[in-house]
Amino acid sequence: ETVVLAYSGGLDTSCILVWLIEQGYKVIGFLADVGQNEDFEAARAKAMKLGAEKMYIEDCKKEFVEEFIWPAVQANARYEERYLLGTALARPCIARKLIEVAKKESATYISHGATGKGNDQVRFEIACYALMPTIKVIAPWRMESFLSRFAGRNELLQYATEKNIPVTATKAKSWSMDANLMHISYESGELEDPATEAASDMYLMTTDPENAPDIPERISIEFKNGFPIKVINKDGTVVDDALKLFLHLNEIGGKHGIGRIDIIENRFIGMKSRGCYETPAGTILQAAHIDIELLTMDREVFKLKQYLKTQFESQVYNGMWFSPECEYTRSCIALSQEVVEGTVHLKLYKGGVYVTARESPRSLYNQDLVSMYIEGDHNASDAAGFIRLNALRSREFQRLKLKVTSK
Ligand code: ARG
Ligand code: SIN
Repeated sequence: ETVVLAYSGGLDTSCILVWLIEQGYKVIGFLADVGQNEDFEAARAKAMKLGAEKMYIEDCKKEFVEEFIWPAVQANARYEERYLLGTALARPCIARKLIEVAKKESATYISHGATGKGNDQVRFEIACYALMPTIKVIAPWRMESFLSRFAGRNELLQYATEKNIPVTATKAKSWSMDANLMHISYESGELEDPATEAASDMYLMTTDPENAPDIPERISIEFKNGFPIKVINKDGTVVDDALKLFLHLNEIGGKHGIGRIDIIENRFIGMKSRGCYETPAGTILQAAHIDIELLTMDREVFKLKQYLKTQFESQVYNGMWFSPECEYTRSCIALSQEVVEGTVHLKLYKGGVYVTARESPRSLYNQDLVSMYIEGDHNASDAAGFIRLNALRSREFQRLKLKVTSK
């Protein structure tokens, strides 16, 4: 029977590939290009050498940006106030392609190298079950027969030697990374102790803010329907293709040290984990998007949308992208974005994103109304009654409190 394996080219999934063949499966490798810096052809060659029937390498970059990152930008998504969800957003994108391949190959099984402790197993599998209800999952890291044989890295290395699995010389790095065009995440290894500071040379997408240029960089971002359609550089050049725009923001954001965080987060499965992330373009876009949104969106709509934002963050983090509630949340949020249009001017400087100005044809800002110098279409005497009535409940509350305590 055929199994499609999410294959990364690394030690773990290489051992899994050989082990699956040993168990009698026909293995088809699958590797999604979501913008990670990787030698895809080397991974293909390696999979074939290890006995895969075929190796699919699928370019998912454009759909990752347009169908997964843009909704997160519209939502201002930030799990537990900090994490921009770079891994969580990529998983449904990867799973969707994986299932396409499984259907095309009439595979009965899919397999992956995610551990039994993490979020990724949950995200992969829920997405796969949603898109192909009959699919079966082989998760070696949760199987007694696999675990009893591969207790740890040493056993994997030994198996690799036995089975002629080439092992690329692993550097002194002890943490595990997940990279895509939105972010790189680092966790585990020496990061496991939350009291230990991360190595200063760990981050790969961003400059340390301390070493970032001393001169700020100014850019402008134009939004329409709540997603960025143009980046205008200080020299007047424009980037307007979704993928190119995002990669461009990564580059300049990275240069200015933008988007690093070091956090403790709550995994869906229950435990807390420590992770470090760098998300340059995502960080810039969120700052700009919130600004243009508050210029153009009604106050009460914004408030409702904040509730949807917290729902969306959990749905994405917990692997529920293809759930009814997440589709509903996304369509509600998208509806709120019709007015979110205009240009935000920004300054990038030593790890910071500073909004300096904004303008919009849909602006709700009325300078005459707010100005301290002219009355505009506002009757100031109305404010006195407004304030008195708004004080009513607090007056009653404090009056009663006094009465009770003075008894
Ligand atoms: N903790 C982050 C998340 O759950 C990052 C996970 C990284 N995954 C990985 N296989 N290294 O989204
Ligand atoms: C893993 O266990 O595969 C990585 C961490 C996570 O998925 O949360």
